[in-house]
Amino acid sequence: MEFENVITERHSTRAFLDKSIPREIIEKLLFLSTRGPSAINLQPWEFTVVMGEERQRLSRVLVKSMRERNISCGPGAVRPLPEYFMDRQRKLMDSILPYLEKGTDFQDFINEGSCNFYGAPVAIIFTIDQAFSKSRLVDVGIAVGYMVLAAHNLGLGTCPIGLISAFADEIKEMLNIPEDKDVVIGVAVGYPDPDSPVNQSISARAPLHEVARFY
Ligand SMILES: Cc1cc2nc3c(=O)[nH]c(=O)nc-3n(C[C@H](O)[C@H](O)[C@H](O)COP(=O)(O)O)c2cc1C
Repeated sequence: MEFENVITERHSTRAFLDKSIPREIIEKLLFLSTRGPSAINLQPWEFTVVMGEERQRLSRVLVKSMRERNISCGPGAVRPLPEYFMDRQRKLMDSILPYLEKGTDFQDFINEGSCNFYGAPVAIIFTIDQAFSKSRLVDVGIAVGYMVLAAHNLGLGTCPIGLISAFADEIKEMLNIPEDKDVVIGVAVGYPDPDSPVNQSISARAPLHEVARFY
């Protein structure tokens, strides 16, 4: 299906220009991200915006922990997944690998890249108050969705970084995030590097009949 809209054009960005984002643009992005719906208008999302030298410092902490604790991006499954899920994961790897420098290990690229927010000038950490149940993570996920689309409209690229939730303690300590908040996810934000091969990678989607049923 062909559509002329932002949804079909947006892809995750994994290489950014070394160019800072003006504060007004970041505020606009946060404003747009918080226009989404939330259950009984609770708006449970909270953001910590990390930029400049602090962003670099955060990445140093994350990379160190990732290596020490041997943490890796994974599906976050609590049981073995049916084969079709594994197939989608393999297809993501197949869509990125051809664009990486020869000899680069895919998992290393993703793990190190994620901890470095792929070089983006801004990392936005999404947190939620621990008083909420897991149901409210849906609302935070909606804000992530709004953010990646709004960023695209503003000429910015994004990559959601779920991996960082494994380093919640380190992140909370470094950014003085209160004890009673949970780190949900991060989003790397910056201007996409148009010359970087990896940004040409396009991930496939399962055909509708695999994910939708009509009654
Ligand atoms: C909840 C969530 C967590 C993600 N975590 C990571 C991550 O830790 N590292 C990474 O490189 N990409 C991460 N991604 C990006 C996905 O790999 C990407 O969205 C997916 O492959 C589809 O590709 P697209 O965004 O280009 O359409 C995450 C995406 C979502 C929605």
